[in-house]
Amino acid sequence: MLQLFDTITGGEVAAPMQAASHEPVLVDRITRLLAVTDGPGIVVDATIGMGGHALALLAASGPDVALVGFDRDPDALALAGRRLAAFRSQLHLIHAGYDELIEQVGPLRDELGAVRAVLYDLGVSSLQLDRADRGFSFRHDAPLDMRMDTTADRTAADLVNSAAPDELRDLLRTYGEERHAGRIARAIVDARPLRTTSELADVVAAAVPARARSGPRHPATRTFQALRIAVNDELNRFRASLPQALEMAAPTTSADRGGRVAVLSYHSLEDRIAKQTFVDAATGCVCPPDLPVCGCGRRPWARALTRGIVRPDDAEVARNPRARSAKLRAIEMIAPRPTGDD
Ligand SMILES: C[S@@+](CC[C@H](N)C(=O)[O-])C[C@H]1O[C@@H](n2cnc3c(N)ncnc32)[C@H](O)[C@@H]1O
Repeated sequence: MLQLFDTITGGEVAAPMQAASHEPVLVDRITRLLAVTDGPGIVVDATIGMGGHALALLAASGPDVALVGFDRDPDALALAGRRLAAFRSQLHLIHAGYDELIEQVGPLRDELGAVRAVLYDLGVSSLQLDRADRGFSFRHDAPLDMRMDTTADRTAADLVNSAAPDELRDLLRTYGEERHAGRIARAIVDARPLRTTSELADVVAAAVPARARSGPRHPATRTFQALRIAVNDELNRFRASLPQALEMAAPTTSADRGGRVAVLSYHSLEDRIAKQTFVDAATGCVCPPDLPVCGCGRRPWARALTRGIVRPDDAEVARNPRARSAKLRAIEMIAPRPTGDD
């Protein structure tokens, strides 16, 4: 029943486990939105990470609810498996990208019931940031890696040492919203090959104007974020996955209840994908108001559960700085997916 659980728990997580004590972002709100207390079904945690949200969801849901947790990172799955051991019989851990949602979860529905909730908590986990050898952080000197899936081919070193200067500049600008993208890209190209996080951080710090070095954030923060998003192809994978979540959570007949989908994002490009997808699903007739009868035939198949975005309050941000840029959006599916003939 527990796919991968046994094989994964055989793997050691070498890092200290401070990560386990990190507070999951907006955990109370997410639990109120997504916990299932009325009968069986599947809750999908598309980014199980250290299992913080999953633990809260399992604790608040009924015992006949199954939690299917995805992660691309084998270390995250190993840790989540250990943290959630008390819920072993309800847990299904899957080492796959969340862009395989339908392929992986579809076949489980006969046995476990309908998909009642899907959660995305996007980006990098504290476990990944705290593990020096993963190369996600300029705070630790390590090989320039940044792969969430340690079995994937391309590392951040491969990317910075092979990308064309324009490509580097564009990705720093787009994924890092880095104002000094051009200068940094040129400095990287001049300093190649770069092999470690410290080498990259030093090159970036030397490339930016002096005033950018004196702010509260390390001048390489945005460069590291941009490279991480690019190495892991984060936005394309999320764009491919979210429509699958809506489809999985949608009722199959108009008599069924639909599930809920929630997205916690930390970057404006991620939030834009969530917003567009959710608004599109919740939009009905788009005919001009003066048209006497609807000609477009559009019907909403979701309704918003959050008005715009929900943000953590000041107290949460003070306890957990990672929550600072978090935005939560959630919807409930109310009808089967429109076929185009509707
Ligand atoms: C912010 S952490 C999740 C933390 C988790 N909510 C918790 O409470 O511990 C994001 C996780 O998503 C994983 N991840 C990122 N991209 C993914 C993808 N395309 N498919 C599956 N997992 C992914 C990362 O490896 C990371 O462990």
